[in-house]
Formats: sequence, C-alpha cells, structure tokens
Amino acid sequence: MVISGKDIAAQMQSSMLQQVDAMAAKYGRTPHLVIIQVGDDPASTVYVRNKMRAAERCHIRTQHILLPAGISEQELCRLTDKHNTDQDVDAILVQLPLPAHISEQKVIRTILPEKDADGFHPDNISLLLRQPAQPDHAATINAPVPDYGCPIACTAKGVMALLASTGVNLSGKHAVMVGETDVISEPMAKLLKDKQCTVTIVRSDAYDLQAACRVADILIVGADKPGLITRDCIRPGAIVFDAGLNRLPDGSLTGDVDFEACKDVASFITPVPGGVGVMIVAMLMHNTIECYNRRING
Ligand code: GUN
Repeated sequence: MVISGKDIAAQMQSSMLQQVDAMAAKYGRTPHLVIIQVGDDPASTVYVRNKMRAAERCHIRTQHILLPAGISEQELCRLTDKHNTDQDVDAILVQLPLPAHISEQKVIRTILPEKDADGFHPDNISLLLRQPAQPDHAATINAPVPDYGCPIACTAKGVMALLASTGVNLSGKHAVMVGETDVISEPMAKLLKDKQCTVTIVRSDAYDLQAACRVADILIVGADKPGLITRDCIRPGAIVFDAGLNRLPDGSLTGDVDFEACKDVASFITPVPGGVGVMIVAMLMHNTIECYNRRING
C-alpha cells in the first residue's frame, strides 16, 4: 500500500492553521520563521519556495533572506545572531548545503537552540537523546511525537507520523536506516527506540547493503542515491520510507528506492515526490509553532 504523505501533511496543515489562528487571537501575533539561503542552488531554491508556501497556508509569517554565495562565515553568523536577539523572530532555518568555505556545524551552533527550526543544534540533539522514553504516547495530528521539550529533526518527526498512520504496532520491530546524515539518523533512532524498536544505522556504501536491509521490518532510506534500494533489499512485508531526493537528467524527481520494483514486496511504501518530503515541510511548520509556543509559554 502506498502511504500518501501529501494527504497526511494536508490534514496536519489544516489543523496547524486553526492552531495558529487561535494563538494569534490570544497573543496578538503569528509565529515568525526566518529562512536564510546562501547562493542560488536550484534545489535549495525549490525547497525554500515549498517551505514558504506551506508557511503561508498555516498563517506563519516568513522572511526569506537570500545571501550571495561569497558571503563570509563571520557575516553569516552575525546575521543569525541578529535574528537570535530579535524578539519578533520565533524560529530560524539556514538552508543546507552551504558553500564549502562555510562550516555548517559552526553556523548551526550560532542559532539559539530555542529558535532552531530544524532541530539540528547539538544542544537540542543531546537534550533529545537524554530524555526518558514516553512509550504510551499515541500519535495525533497535533502531537505526532511526544513532547521532549526541544525541536526535533523534521525528517524524523515526519517518518514517525507516517508510521503512526499505518496503525502497525512498532514494539519489537527492527528498523534499519540507510544514510550518512547524523543530525537526522540520531534523532530518528531515538524516536524509534522509544517505541521499543531495535535500530541499526547502515552506511549507503556498506559492503553488503542488501543483506543489511533485508533484516528490516522498517526500512528508512535517506542517502540521495537514485536506484540504491532494489527489490532484493526489501524483506517481504517490510515498511519502506524513502527520504531521498534526486533530480534525474530528464528533470524528474526520484528517491533512493526503485519504487516500481519494490511497491508490491513492501506492505507500506512512500512515493517520491508526495511521501517523506512533504512531511518534512509540514514538520518544519510544526517545529516553528512549537518554538513560538515555548517562547511565549515556556
Ligand atoms: N537541505 C535539505 N534538507 C534540509 C533541511 O531539512 N533543513 C535545512 N536547513 N536544509 C536542508
């Protein structure tokens, strides 16, 4: 069965719109997200546009700051710091990747943890990893994961919301994550472990990737390598999430999983586009609202 991230994200967005309108009536202002983009990489431009459109649908104010690719690390850090101290700004996102002369980790560390829209700040990741499990939390549209008191990576939250939509009991399942992005895989592993899953993280260039993937009841792939996951990688009945995004030479978008070959081996599978990607954008709105709420209510 194909899981429609698009439908779940749309439901979330209409619920978030109501939430934002109610909060705006109560507190006199709507949440405010600042998106900083360095250079005009076409993929980043598309991502940023999608984020701005989603924010508009939720009545979240956005400010898109487009900076020249040659900006220095110091100037960029100075700009994030300016928004850290602006009381009207609730959440800040620096679109990645950054040009090679700028350290992404350094820039992420300059964002105030309570304004970290992506949940990539090391303080937020370590805070999350130290929280006790909340195994009885039942996912809802407004609370797709338990409240751990800090922003959580949007991909991890998005996958958990999609998993909840399947109705499958996660306890005792083996989840395998394929990819190299630690700021996403570590929070993802924590959320799954808190649901009593066994978790394995595998590099996309692992010696026997097929064998590593075939043990998975839940396979989560985010390596940005088209065609990486073939039918032979899928254990029959597994749940497959494709968080990869690749543009093919003909201009079309595809994930990392050979969708056509895998869709009838998997019990549930997400398409690209319309799967994990739209959920990531919805969860960015969710994180922005949470940042706003925590800044107002503590
Ligand atoms: N580039 C690709 N995905 C993301 C994301 O989730 N956040 C940021 N900041 N940059 C990205």
